[in-house]
Amino acid sequence: MYSMLLHSHSGIRWIVLILLVLAVVNNGMKWQSGKAFTDKDRKLNLFTMISSHIMLLLGITLIFYTPKLQMAEGGTNEVARFFMTHITWMIIAIVLITFGYIRSKKLIGDKIKFRAAFIPYLLALVAILYAIPWPGRGYGGGWY
Ligand code: HEM
Repeated sequence: MYSMLLHSHSGIRWIVLILLVLAVVNNGMKWQSGKAFTDKDRKLNLFTMISSHIMLLLGITLIFYTPKLQMAEGGTNEVARFFMTHITWMIIAIVLITFGYIRSKKLIGDKIKFRAAFIPYLLALVAILYAIPWPGRGYGGGWY
């Protein structure tokens, strides 16, 4: 169960990252060029949000299985501290994506809709790239 959850959580990161990069580029370019906001644009933002919510569900479940959150005596465990940071930043990123999607959907006006999604999605991308336990950082993370 743990291995299945871990591999799903690790592999789906690529779907989140690809969708998020596409959404940031799409929102940013169309905001600047003044294109019309279509249902296709909304759907790209929506699928990005859904993929991040799947990560949230897998992540919450992982908390109950992972050995990596166990603090050593006195709370000096580097790995556990990193994963607390991981969870915090990822939740912030997912809240930003959700906020961006809802705001962009509600607002009226093409440019405003693109901008409303672009800024929080970009911030979320930065937070996610920063908080991933990339191989080589010493926290035991893999590529997939
Ligand atoms: C889009 C958001 C997220 C991304 C891209 C992401 C990505 C990752 C990656 C790449 C790993 C390392 C997997 C490996 O060892 O190969 C990991 C581990 C972990 N993540 Fe996330 N994560 C996200 C959100 C979350 C959230 C919201 C939570 C908790 C609420 C969470 C909890 C964990 C835990 C507990 C581990 C450690 C698993 C272990 O190695 O035992 N993650 N995450």
